[in-house]
Amino acid sequence: MPVINLNQTEEILASNDPALLGRLLKESDQVRRKARGNEVYLRGLIEFSNYCSCNCFYCGLRSKNTLINRYFLSREEIIKIAEYAYRKGYHSICLQSGENPVPEQVDFLVELISCIKEVTTQNGGPGLGITLSIGELSYSQYLRLYKAGAHRYLLRIETSDNELFSRIHPPGQTLSSRLECLAALGDIGYQVGTGVMIGLPGQTVSHLVGDLKFFLDQDIDMLGMGPYIPHPNTPLARMQRYITIDSYTTSLKMLALARLLMPDINMVASTALQSIHPEGLKMGLKAGANIIMPVLTPPDKRDDYKLYAHKKFTTLTTLEQQVDEAGYKMGYWKWGDSPHWHQRRNRGK
Ligand code: 5AD
Ligand code: SF4
Repeated sequence: MPVINLNQTEEILASNDPALLGRLLKESDQVRRKARGNEVYLRGLIEFSNYCSCNCFYCGLRSKNTLINRYFLSREEIIKIAEYAYRKGYHSICLQSGENPVPEQVDFLVELISCIKEVTTQNGGPGLGITLSIGELSYSQYLRLYKAGAHRYLLRIETSDNELFSRIHPPGQTLSSRLECLAALGDIGYQVGTGVMIGLPGQTVSHLVGDLKFFLDQDIDMLGMGPYIPHPNTPLARMQRYITIDSYTTSLKMLALARLLMPDINMVASTALQSIHPEGLKMGLKAGANIIMPVLTPPDKRDDYKLYAHKKFTTLTTLEQQVDEAGYKMGYWKWGDSPHWHQRRNRGK
């Protein structure tokens, strides 16, 4: 049973008391160790394409940003990186891109996923676990990708508040269509992850309480949330005077509250959290995160995958050191799936 209830979260999120933050992190760490142990599981992040048909007001990959070079990694390049990840003991990768729901991209991915599965299971091993983070697609497209071997899907809702959602997206993009996608993913059998940005212009602690309630209601398996970081070539960067939340501390509190409310889910210490504070990774883990996503995108493409300003790249050696210093252990050679998903399946949901 959760050791906290939703009614208590607003006061905690609104508080500036460092002692309260300390107590909260201590409690969430205890819950995490009990429910998920001390291991940190790895998802090697392959940002295979930065083409995006969407125009989210906050993101550097938005189609109207003409100041980046668009790229698409070849099948061979991606397979080489996946094999490297497998050899290194990551045992899971996350294939991420901008949203590009054209049939050719889905065909490409179906073939690619089958091939990665084949090459990594050749010797009787479990193969690479594959997470996808490629945005909104149709039910049949999600189904094809699942059948090819992808078994986890991350689709952030960015905020659960309809009005705030519509203030940070153009009219064609709606929260209801994200919700339909999440329902489709769950129905197909994916481990489903979602998440929000924290510290958006106009966002209040009540919105964040609504987000926690949304995660509970959706019975999610995975959570990826982190601070909003303005990107200079985006419309939202001109709205910074409407930011009222300290994105770093509030992100830590949100992670800790999510861990207390949902002890058995998988939760990411996001790159954004690592990018806004030198201690971001360690503190994210201490707040309850148990997943990290080391960037495996080729170095010459990383500058063109800047969702926000000052996106940080950390080497595996440094990540390993920080995980160790924070008091956790790298979960090499394991998929580290969310037990919540198994439990959800047993409940027939
Ligand atoms: N700051 C923080 N996170 C961002 N994302 C996109 N732009 C930003 C930003 N400026 C996140 C969104 C999206 C994910 C791929 O990256 O939550 O879902
Ligand atoms: Fe595209 Fe995702 Fe960025 Fe929106 S957040 S512009 S969908 S990459």
